[in-house]
Amino acid sequence: MDRTGTEPHGPAGPTASAERRPRVFSGVQPSGDLHLGTYLGALRPWTERQDARENVFCVVDLHAITVPEAIDPARLRDKCREVAALYLACGIDPDRSTVFVQSHVREHAELAWLLNCTTPLGWLYRMTQFKSKSEGRDSVSVGLLDYPVLQAADILLYDTDLVPVGEDQVQHVELTRDIAGRFNRLFGDTFRLPKAEIPKSGARVMGFDDPEVKMSKSLARERDRHAVPLLADEKRIKKTVMSAVTDSGREFRPEHAGPGVRNLLGVHASLTGDAVDELAERFAGGGYGDLKKAVLGAILDALGPIQERYRELADDPAELDAILAKGAERARTTAAETMARASAAIGVGA
Ligand code: TYM
Repeated sequence: MDRTGTEPHGPAGPTASAERRPRVFSGVQPSGDLHLGTYLGALRPWTERQDARENVFCVVDLHAITVPEAIDPARLRDKCREVAALYLACGIDPDRSTVFVQSHVREHAELAWLLNCTTPLGWLYRMTQFKSKSEGRDSVSVGLLDYPVLQAADILLYDTDLVPVGEDQVQHVELTRDIAGRFNRLFGDTFRLPKAEIPKSGARVMGFDDPEVKMSKSLARERDRHAVPLLADEKRIKKTVMSAVTDSGREFRPEHAGPGVRNLLGVHASLTGDAVDELAERFAGGGYGDLKKAVLGAILDALGPIQERYRELADDPAELDAILAKGAERARTTAAETMARASAAIGVGA
């Protein structure tokens, strides 16, 4: 079978080898403080099967500049390093996984251009993330609309099989398949079609101050009780968790659990591995304070070692730079091969 799982349409690229480990690609934008949602929906699942897979994890800084009002150049550089250090602190092992910054491998922007030329504009207007991010803005950059095409380039450059992401990114991964499929149909079998991989728990962590909305970096900038940032101190975490929205009434009644309580139970279950039903039974009849204290304990237990490792890494910036330079070099090798294949297919390049 060819790489796409369909009949080849033209000059085929490298064929899949039976022994090839599944290739994984994913990324986080250095656009704000990483939080519990980023951890449970992405970073933690990334660490889980590093040996069984070939992993490529990227800090996607070119995506973070699609909202130009938010750009602070010096801060962006610092954030890239902070995000990379958090990958490692959460358990990504640079000897087993390739870790790098997107803008250090120029093929990402280059492939995005080829894909821009083969992707219908209408596909981008339909993206829910574009709709929500552009809502209420006087002016929106071309980059914001084009964001999913760059994301497709990220994924397709590495012949990716699996893209481990939170639920909100599924639409972008589906679009990546469509973009790759269209290119393959027009110019011959060039790209492997990837699939999103959603964690069983923690795929959609909701805001502690408003359980109707997804916990997000942008809302966390405006509201200090919305998210638990991974690098927050205990006092801040306590304030956020203990003021989390629950149901009205004093006593926890599982059969009437609303979204706030379900979110707290989900976070606890995801962090400890306990079943939601079992937790609901354990806390039934008690006050919401008991549930919140247990969630707080689970969060502090999980984040303590991460913060400790982060501080060690932050103390040695030269080591982090060396890891990122080596990661970019490794990434470039594969990216350049795919870029050459795509360029040849469409008829550009030397
Ligand atoms: P970003 O930076 O918004 O989020 C990074 C990852 O964290 C997940 N996530 C969540 N999961 C559960 N609950 C939440 N509240 C929550 N908030 C965030 C996201 O689903 C994501 O997996 N477009 C991507 C970045 C990107 C990318 C890529 C991802 C660029 N290129 C290629 C995968 C592959 C984004 O905005 O992530």
